[in-house]
Parts: sequence; structure tokens; C-alpha cells
Amino acid sequence: MVKRNPNMAKLQSSYLFPEIARRKNEFLAKNPGAKIISLGIGDTTQPITPHIMKGLSGEVSRLGTKKGYTGYGAEQGLKELRDKIAEKMYDGLIEGDEVFVSDGAKPDTARLQVLFGSNATIAVQDPSYPVYVDSSVILGQTGSYNQEKSQFDGIEYMECTPENNFFPDLRKARRTDIIFFCNPNNPTGAAVNAKQLRELVNFARKNNSIIVYDSAYSQFISDKNLPRSIYEIDGAKEVAIEISSFSKPIGFTGVRLGWTVIPNELKFEDGTSVNKDWNRIMTTLFNGASNIAQQGALSALDEKGMKEMKQTISYYLENAGIIRASMEKLGYEVYGGVHAPYLWVRIPGKTSWQAFEEFLGKAHLVTIPGIGFGPSGEGFLRLSALGHREEVKEAVKRIERLMK
Ligand code: MLT
Repeated sequence: MVKRNPNMAKLQSSYLFPEIARRKNEFLAKNPGAKIISLGIGDTTQPITPHIMKGLSGEVSRLGTKKGYTGYGAEQGLKELRDKIAEKMYDGLIEGDEVFVSDGAKPDTARLQVLFGSNATIAVQDPSYPVYVDSSVILGQTGSYNQEKSQFDGIEYMECTPENNFFPDLRKARRTDIIFFCNPNNPTGAAVNAKQLRELVNFARKNNSIIVYDSAYSQFISDKNLPRSIYEIDGAKEVAIEISSFSKPIGFTGVRLGWTVIPNELKFEDGTSVNKDWNRIMTTLFNGASNIAQQGALSALDEKGMKEMKQTISYYLENAGIIRASMEKLGYEVYGGVHAPYLWVRIPGKTSWQAFEEFLGKAHLVTIPGIGFGPSGEGFLRLSALGHREEVKEAVKRIERLMK
């Protein structure tokens, strides 16, 4: 018999989002008539907009012709798309050859862990998107699980709570090789300002660390004065990788398309180019993103597409505004929902899982318990605003009834 990877035994039995789905299905099996509304996993619901659809469907048609058919593409993505991402998403702060197009930010996170290897030490914001910790556990970077603290001894958890405005106290943070930093943050919805981001970059420069900056929600930032990319900060190119995604801004959660930026200036200790090693990883572990999805993205990045993207984002942010206003009226302490499609709500007197069960059992609403994102998430629920407007309005009514 083959020995099981011992790191697998350290993981929670299932990844957070499938666990939520399991509990929802269990509830539905017992209550077959229940009309469940999901404020849970951040999955998009609005149809892909017409101009972006043209990009997708045009490529589908071309693939059915002798002249237009294409097979494998470049593992790094279409040159035209890489250049366009550099121009439109980064205002030319980076070059097209630093962009690697992929099937999404989550698989890129996993492949980055392969790049760093099992000896790398990592830090995460607490709470944080669970993929960072779980992929580290699988690679064996984490030490053992501390039941009492609900955390892994080998990981540096940088507390991000309302008390510190969701920005970690870097004076207290232990040096690690890698720092995962998601901005705007999933799950809290908080967005950092330029001064804070500079502080983070300087911290990484001082410690010779690499920041993995997850900007999957950057298009939701509604204040022009807030940084969208880490490369807006001087000196970031020597210490930061940026991963990002088309999933939320244009509804590509199912189509699948994202990208990772590895600046040419970023080097490992021995002087090797990180970009060169990443190219080796991608050409080995990945066969290139879907040609259909890439044509959709090219349409999304032209003038009409960018307009449509803005409309989609406004729709979800209006949803967030509706939820936020109602929760505030009910007297909840609520964060986020302004620069991100997530709201972070403190539920007094309850653990996150108790609050989750209450929302599901009494209001038939699926939410995400804050503890699922790390120990500092205890006592909070994350609500997603990526739903249909009618469902969001109905959800708000149900919460109001629940609290009466
Ligand atoms: C979330 O709900 O946090 C995200 O949708 C999950 C993901 O992007 O993988």
C-alpha cells in the first residue's frame, strides 16, 4: 500500500466552501421546501454582458472553421492579452512579458506554492482566503495544528480586526519568506491606503520576503485615491508578485481566467529570476488558458468591455449597499461592502458556526462563518453581495424578521 501524504491529515476534513455546501444540502434534505438564498460563496450571478459575449462566441465560431481553428496556445497566454492586461489593468506600470495568463487566481496560488517549495515559511492576514493556508499545509510548510489557538504553529497569522482597521501591526509580525496579502480583502472587504501598502512593501524589502498580493477584487475599489495594484508603490517590483482574476468583475467564475504578474526585477536569494522559474513551472504544469476565455477577456479590455465591466461591478456594489444599510439599521457592526462585494458582520454573543446555523435554520440564508477564514474571524459572518437583486432584497427582509 502507498503511504498517505501525512500533510493531508493536517487539513480540516473538507475545504471551507464544500463544507458550507454540504451543510446546506443536509438542511435541504431535512427541509425539502425551503427556499434557500445564498449569501455564501462569492459566486457571480449576472449574465456575461453582450460585448464580452461577442468575444467568447466569436472564438467559438472560429474554432469550427478550418482557417480559424487553433490548438494549444502559448502557456503564458496570448501576447496580445498579456500586453492589454499590462496596459489596461496596470496603466503600463508593468510589461506584457511579466504577465502570465492562467485559469484563475486560486490555481495560480497552488502553483506558486510549488514554486516556493515546502521549506518556505509563510504569513497570512488573519482572517484570510483559506487557499493560502490550505495549500501551505498540503506542501508541508506549516508545522502542526494548534487546536487551542485554531491555527498552525508554523504559519504567521497577522491579525486584521476592526481594532487595527484591518491592517496588521507589522512591528509584531515575524519574518517569513512569503507574505500572502489580499486587497481588497476577502473576507473582510477592507481596502488599504497607499501609506499602508508602502509600509507592507518596506517591511518585505527589509526582511527580503516576497509578497503574494492577491488583487482579485481590485476592480471593486470605488475610491480613486486607493491603490489597486501593489506596483503603484515604489520598490514593489523587487518584492511582489500580483495574482488577479477576471472571475468577479466580468462573471468568469465558470469560464475561468486569471493572471499572475512576476516582475523581471524579482529575484531569489541566489540571483535567479523568479519570472524565469515561474515560466518553467507554467510550461510544465499548465497547458495555457482557454483560447475562448482569452478572447472574451480581450473584449472585456477594450472600451466597450471596460464600460460593461464597470456596470457589472456597480450592480454588485449596489447589492452590497442594500445589505450594509439594512444591517446597520438593525444595529449590527458591519464592515466592507464599499470596495469589495463582501460584508463582514459581527454577530454578538454567538460563535460564527452558531450564527451560520441560525441564519440557515431560521431565515434559510447561507452565509460563511468567519472562523473558516482564521481565528480572528470568530464571532463574524461573511455575506456575499454577488447575488441577484431580488434575492438580496428578500434576504435583507428575512434578516430583519430574524432580528425582531
Ligand atoms: C469566495 O467565496 O471566497 C470565493 O468565491 C472563492 C473563490 O474565489 O475561490
